[in-house]
Amino acid sequence: MIKDIQNEILRLKKENDICVLAHSYQSHDIVEVADYTGDSYALSVKAAGVTNKTVIMCGVRFMAETVKILSPEKRVILAHPEAGCAMADMMDKEIIEQIKPKYPDYTIVAYINTTAALKTICDVCVTSSSAVNIVRNIENKNILFIPDCNLGAYVAAQVPEKNIKLLNGGCPIHAAVNPSDVIRVREKHPEAKLLIHPECTPEVVELADFVGSTADIMNYAKRSDEKEFIIGTELSIVEHLQHECPDKLFYGLSTGLICKNMRITTLVDLYNCIIGRGGEEIKLSDETIRDAKKCIDQMIKLNHE
Ligand code: 13P
Ligand code: SF4
Repeated sequence: MIKDIQNEILRLKKENDICVLAHSYQSHDIVEVADYTGDSYALSVKAAGVTNKTVIMCGVRFMAETVKILSPEKRVILAHPEAGCAMADMMDKEIIEQIKPKYPDYTIVAYINTTAALKTICDVCVTSSSAVNIVRNIENKNILFIPDCNLGAYVAAQVPEKNIKLLNGGCPIHAAVNPSDVIRVREKHPEAKLLIHPECTPEVVELADFVGSTADIMNYAKRSDEKEFIIGTELSIVEHLQHECPDKLFYGLSTGLICKNMRITTLVDLYNCIIGRGGEEIKLSDETIRDAKKCIDQMIKLNHE
């Protein structure tokens, strides 16, 4: 049954010149039919180079918006209209417009987990895999980092020469993990390496053997000679790694690490999208695209050595 739907998706996307992008957190059956799977940075780079007429994003809304901003001439569809991101939804353009005058000499660095509207008034975007490098490459010493205070604190620790101001935002799912979760899982699996996403709190990040984006965590575990890993990000990554590395063992750091927004999209949603019965086409005004593009372009420009 699943194989039949997958085969139909593969046939129809070819016939209709459709590219399917999937975030690393998507389910295995979606990843299997996607043209590309990766972290937010890799998806942004891919989005800029897509040649198909239509792009379907299996991920969350800000990711589909990023595709539209980078490829405005394409039809961009979010596979499930209700797939938002709790972090992106907690900070809107109006809040930052009010705060901005208090920081006249600051470069506003926005995590890519923000709305397209908010990006229009920011200077540079970053992702979890590129934030440290990009902040290091920004000329200005003064940085206002929004919305994730945990990723911001991680960057501040890695780039101490910058004066980084943080606001009180973040991912409620990653932020809910505690050092006590680490102690409990490490007691059961003392040999396992702890791989942590920087959306977790500094207290958890401090205990990690490796800190990185979803794709960085996967690559680290796949290349490592170690055999056991505790995964400190969405539990879908545990499943993907266990499937790809059957000779190794993977443990979730907390049962709370489930993002319902990322899990809401099913293979059937993708199929319905392809046959024109589902999904939501992303519509952004020309001004929003023009202004939001500046800070995404800056992200790609500043992510050099
Ligand atoms: P990555 O860029 O690491 O894929 O992060 C996206 C995200 O939303 C993690 O929660
Ligand atoms: Fe957003 Fe957190 Fe879900 Fe990532 S895990 S998409 S940051 S709510």
